[in-house]
Amino acid sequence: MATKGLILAGGKGTRLYPLTHIFSKQLQPVYDKPMIYYPLSTLMLGGIKDILIISTPIDTPNYEKLLGDGSQWGINLEYVVQESPAGLPQAFILGEDFINKEQSCLILGDNIFYGKLDFLRNGLKENLGGTIFAYKVENPQEYGVVEFNKEKIVISIEEKPNEPKSNFAIPGLYIFDENVSNYSKNLKPSKRGELEITDLQKIYLAEEKLNVQQISRGVAWLDTGTPGSLLDAANFIQAIEKRQGLKIACLEEIALLMNFINMEEYENTVNNLPNCDYKNYCLKILKEI
Ligand code: TTP
Repeated sequence: MATKGLILAGGKGTRLYPLTHIFSKQLQPVYDKPMIYYPLSTLMLGGIKDILIISTPIDTPNYEKLLGDGSQWGINLEYVVQESPAGLPQAFILGEDFINKEQSCLILGDNIFYGKLDFLRNGLKENLGGTIFAYKVENPQEYGVVEFNKEKIVISIEEKPNEPKSNFAIPGLYIFDENVSNYSKNLKPSKRGELEITDLQKIYLAEEKLNVQQISRGVAWLDTGTPGSLLDAANFIQAIEKRQGLKIACLEEIALLMNFINMEEYENTVNNLPNCDYKNYCLKILKEI
């Protein structure tokens, strides 16, 4: 079954102000690429080719300018505006026609994953209703926290608990079945006036259809919501890229690797890039294949 991808790239970005006074958080650089390249690359590496980008009225045209219709990478990119940041499940309401009653995978535009993405590919393959991911962290009280058993079945989920029941945080990556838009439409805003992803997950939990895929410690999950974590992420990407001579989240390279484009299409796409290190890298890859 084809999975529809959604990237939520709106929000206020308050913690990054004044960086975000003019430009959206997910357009900020993470070392050598705009932040949104990273979640987009994650979906592409999961084999997802149909992707909806959701952002604010002001920023959506910028994303369209940056990424276009996706044909240069052999994927289909569509755009929809979120008038105000009324919560993560709104993605599934705004994306209802796009999702068209198929499985969907939502990634938050400020979540970066680096490492073997088997957890995502397994989640997409094994999803029975809802699938969330679990990543061991030192400070679970700052995240949504999941408690689960050996059968990967969720026992509880709590948002930023004072006394976490586990050390497993829930990253901004979620898979849901074809019911997600309908369930989202029935959610009521929480006390802070937003639709909550935890409430959506609890519907699947009540139906005993919420599973967990654990992300191993060999994978890095990076947050980029504050100036410090944004710099840490950039330093991390730079360190790996410098050591290996390989780029992380080079969308042209990934499109070729995933067979979304053939060699001739790759050459066309790369030839259209302006002269820069990024283009040189794409050309170098071509010689090494
Ligand atoms: P947050 O980090 O919770 O919020 P934010 O990005 O607005 O930042 P801040 O807390 O500093 O004000 O959002 C997580 C991600 O989801 C981020 O990529 C923005 C996005 N988002 C939306 O696009 N729409 C929404 O309605 C919400 C709640 C978040």
